[in-house]
Amino acid sequence: MRLLSVRLIVSLIVGITLVSSGFSYYEALNEKRALRSDLEHRATVLSESLVGNVERSWNPGHDKDKELQRLVKRFGNREHLLGVAIYDRTGQLVAISNDLQNTFTQPPPPIIQAMNEGHEQSSFLRLGNQSLHILASPVVHDDQVVGGLAVVHDASYIRSQILLTWRRSFLRVLVQVFIIVLITLLIIRWSIAGPIARAALWMRALRTGKISFRHDVPDLAMFRPLAREVATMAESLNQARSAAVNEARLRDAAESMWTADRLSVQVRTRLNGSPLFVVSNREPYMHRRNGKDVDVVVPPSGLVTALEPILNACDGTWIAHGSGNADTEVVDPHDRLRVPPDDPRYTLRRVWLSKEEEEGYYYGFANEGLWPLCHIAHTRPLFRATDWQHYQDVNRKFTDAVLEEIAGVDKPVILVQDYHFALVPRMIKEKRPDARVAIFWHIPWPNTEAFGICPWQRQLIDGLLGADLIGFHVQSHCNNFLQTVDRVVESRVDWEHFSVQRHDHRTMVRPFPISVAFADGDSTGKDQPSFTQTYEERSSLLRSLGVEATYVGVGVDRVDYTKGILERFLAIERFLEKYPSYQGKFTFVQIGAPSRTHIKRYHDLMAEVEAEAERINWRFQGGKWKPIVFLNRQHSHKEIEPYYRAADLCLVTSLHDGMNLVAKEFLAARTDERGVLILSQFTGAARELRDALLVNPYDIEQTAEAIRVALEMEPEEKQLRVQRMRRVIKENNIYRWAGNLITELCEIRLDTQEEAHREFGAKAGVA
Ligand code: G6P
Repeated sequence: MRLLSVRLIVSLIVGITLVSSGFSYYEALNEKRALRSDLEHRATVLSESLVGNVERSWNPGHDKDKELQRLVKRFGNREHLLGVAIYDRTGQLVAISNDLQNTFTQPPPPIIQAMNEGHEQSSFLRLGNQSLHILASPVVHDDQVVGGLAVVHDASYIRSQILLTWRRSFLRVLVQVFIIVLITLLIIRWSIAGPIARAALWMRALRTGKISFRHDVPDLAMFRPLAREVATMAESLNQARSAAVNEARLRDAAESMWTADRLSVQVRTRLNGSPLFVVSNREPYMHRRNGKDVDVVVPPSGLVTALEPILNACDGTWIAHGSGNADTEVVDPHDRLRVPPDDPRYTLRRVWLSKEEEEGYYYGFANEGLWPLCHIAHTRPLFRATDWQHYQDVNRKFTDAVLEEIAGVDKPVILVQDYHFALVPRMIKEKRPDARVAIFWHIPWPNTEAFGICPWQRQLIDGLLGADLIGFHVQSHCNNFLQTVDRVVESRVDWEHFSVQRHDHRTMVRPFPISVAFADGDSTGKDQPSFTQTYEERSSLLRSLGVEATYVGVGVDRVDYTKGILERFLAIERFLEKYPSYQGKFTFVQIGAPSRTHIKRYHDLMAEVEAEAERINWRFQGGKWKPIVFLNRQHSHKEIEPYYRAADLCLVTSLHDGMNLVAKEFLAARTDERGVLILSQFTGAARELRDALLVNPYDIEQTAEAIRVALEMEPEEKQLRVQRMRRVIKENNIYRWAGNLITELCEIRLDTQEEAHREFGAKAGVA
């Protein structure tokens, strides 16, 4: 700034001096001209008045010399007039004023010139150190030039006058420079340096985030437009800064957080824009005829709960059994329709099965054979050769549907679901080796001995090993599977990398704990209902059930023997027996969706559960209170939510369960961070939800005790446990499950598999 000021001042001084000097020079020149012309004018007037008299002296009868001498003497003492000199035509001096006598004895050149040319000559010249003006006029007599008259003025005063003018100009320039520099300095200080310093301070405060932009703009005088620009820039900077902070936070959170959007981006990137294909037995939407209307029903299925958000996020095609009695009425000629019905986002391709196929493949082999085989819930598996035949046929049928859907898609990515389709992976790969196929086994995989009961275990395992990736919920299921593979088929199990090499194909085996879509923003607290809201919701629920109670427990299951519903009821009975003070106060609401009722075991179970509830109610109920409310119909997610929110505890007592999503749904619904989860230690969920009250559902005493502990738990502890478990679910939600599964599948290098196998075989000396 200081350097700038010095430069500015020097420039100003030089500039002002040059301009002022130019003007002064012009002024002096003009003055000189004016003075000279004034002098010339005076000389002319004098000369004109003299020349007549002089000419007359040449007339005969005149004493020329005397008269002229008299004449010149008269003009000796006028202002600046040095005198007059008269010469004859030969240049002889005729008369001269006293003051000129020493210098003008000879005619000066203008006189000679005037006489020669016959007209006046005006001339300024220097004589010694004297500056003179000579006006020389010819003296004419009888039309003859007879002499010359010189009027001589002292012109030195003109120079003095000009010098005076220059001196005045110099002083004026000096004063101007001084005043202008002073004013400039003051302007710089007040209007530039000051505001700039204030602006710098303000900008620094902005930069360091100490003040907000617009409101604290300082008064920057003439820099106001600039200040406005800077303020806008600061605003953008601030926004950019907070965006950067936000982004960093998001990036940080994104390390652990999976959302529908992130999954959709991830899938698009991984799949390079090609669609995702999902195959499952159960469809996400069933169409059922209801008189003249067609109802849309979402079946009660953990698999559907988990996969629906993924397809919603990623689009693609879901190939499933069209099991609704109005399903055929709503599809296009290719058996497709877009779903969800009220906001279509992906394609549902329905596969039709005959009664016999459904009976043999679904009810028979899958649900009377594999389901009890894998769950070990003490219901004997039934394996019939006819069922096995149907199972193979239906697997082929689904494979054909998949091949139809993926025709024209290069390197399609296919996620096959569950125990209904153990043979599908190999069937697909035989036709489309370029396809990436994963199968996720949603139920447990038992130990080798248990699985060995299945007469077709070898074929099932071979079919599964057609996949590039096999997923289970937990590591122990992976281990059980690998041990079974090791025991049952010709293959090489790589325990270090959890993979199986069979023939020329390698299959990776990994745990992917399935989950629910944890709604965004749940943890911000803004969605949290108040205690009064929860209380009111609970009262209105109980009123609708016709029951009065202080404490409420909830259970939500398909009525399935693996879910431990009877054991749960026994535990409730024991709890009321052991802690009678809760009689009249604790009511357990069991939502039981009828499931697979075509199978006798399930049909009987429904009756058993109803009877057991009835028995216990009969034993304890009184007034408007009863211990168990059994709602034996399917409820939608929307209908179930209020029960989750109203409950003091949720009972999940599966005798064996791959994961169990009810436990996770209950926690996801508890935005109020209240409620206790009592969870069977035999569920996959128990590995993740360590803050639940873990129970052995076969141990009735333990579960009864857990109910008491849950009801008497301090609110702070309840909150802490729910918070921790919600965090686990939020981080390990269904989007992470799908993201990890798809990423893992897409990272497998299909083209090098055969090569790897050859290399390995050569090293190991295997043919
Ligand atoms: C389990 C199975 C799913 C099945 C669901 C409901 O979660 O793993 O594959 O869809 O139960 O059973 P359902 O037989 O009605 O489809």
